[in-house]
Amino acid sequence: MKRIKIGNQFEASAIALGAMRMSGKTVDEAEKIVLTAYENGIDYVDHADIYGGGESENVFSKVLKRNPGLREKILLQDKVGICKGYYDASYEHIMEAADGCLKRLGVDYIDALLLHRPDALMEPEEVAEAYTRLQAQGKVRFFGVSNENAAQLMLLDKFMPGKIIINQLQFSICHSILVDEGVNVNMHTEHAQVLSGGVLDYCRLKDITVQAWSPFQYGMFRGVFLGSEKYPELNHLIKELSEKYGVSDNAIAIAWILRHPANIQAIAGSMNPKRIQEICAGGDIQLTRQEWYRLYLAAGNPLP
Ligand SMILES: NC(=O)c1ccc[n+]([C@@H]2O[C@H](COP(=O)([O-])OP(=O)(O)OC[C@H]3O[C@@H](n4cnc5c(N)ncnc54)[C@H](OP(=O)(O)O)[C@@H]3O)[C@@H](O)[C@H]2O)c1
Repeated sequence: MKRIKIGNQFEASAIALGAMRMSGKTVDEAEKIVLTAYENGIDYVDHADIYGGGESENVFSKVLKRNPGLREKILLQDKVGICKGYYDASYEHIMEAADGCLKRLGVDYIDALLLHRPDALMEPEEVAEAYTRLQAQGKVRFFGVSNENAAQLMLLDKFMPGKIIINQLQFSICHSILVDEGVNVNMHTEHAQVLSGGVLDYCRLKDITVQAWSPFQYGMFRGVFLGSEKYPELNHLIKELSEKYGVSDNAIAIAWILRHPANIQAIAGSMNPKRIQEICAGGDIQLTRQEWYRLYLAAGNPLP
């Protein structure tokens, strides 16, 4: 499994396990999922306080309790700031929500805490104060955000220089906005629209690790593109490459994300141990430049 530097601060597996879909699992099932991921090279787990209304964290905490020593072997990330009907990046909310995460996970500290979505009413000074306090208290080691553009990152950086080391964004072969705008600069095409504000390049410049959420989905939770009749050309090519590399289709889809030189970390959300094992094989594949572009085009993306 490929390993990457997170924000130039610490090392982790290039594929992480996302716990968004863990809430419906029994502790036995969750244990199998987590241990399969770990045995196949994943040492990073992504949570959010809203996943299953906190239930994903609860189930996961029972897995940790059953497996003494596991906590120290893996890196734990959590996200806060989404409330019912609004977003909240206030000092009070971040502090209270972080404590809730620690309690439900049953741990003393987490390795990374992220603001889940940009809050239009965010006051960066408050985020800085909360992050500084949580770090001083030893509750959180590192900080990040999710779904933010370059200007939003710059705004936070003004108040806490260098402190944001992660930005989690949606990215897959079929949701490739992060690279679309870069290859279509100055064109009159739909793909030239600047939808993410050059955030991928900004993150590279600032040593902020981009984490790719929903690596197998098209649209926002509209479905999995693997095997979908909406993407016949893409699936045909994925099959060709999976035969070439001797891996499954999901490994090729992950390898496409990992091939980008930004050293993106892919957050896979499968709760199926067999699939997790298959996905991890993608962490050992280096697609060629031509294969990367062929996949990009086969998903329906144009090049000027
Ligand atoms: N920051 C944000 O705003 C945000 C938003 C969404 C998600 N996330 C994070 O990203 C993680 C991943 O998101 P996601 O679960 O939507 O992404 P995903 O890994 O693209 O999708 C996983 C889902 O696809 C299904 N699936 C069907 N066929 C598959 C195949 N061949 N290979 C792999 N999966 C297949 C899985 O089912 P099985 O379980 O049966 O395999 C599972 O339900 C989440 O757990 C969460 O940590 C963050």
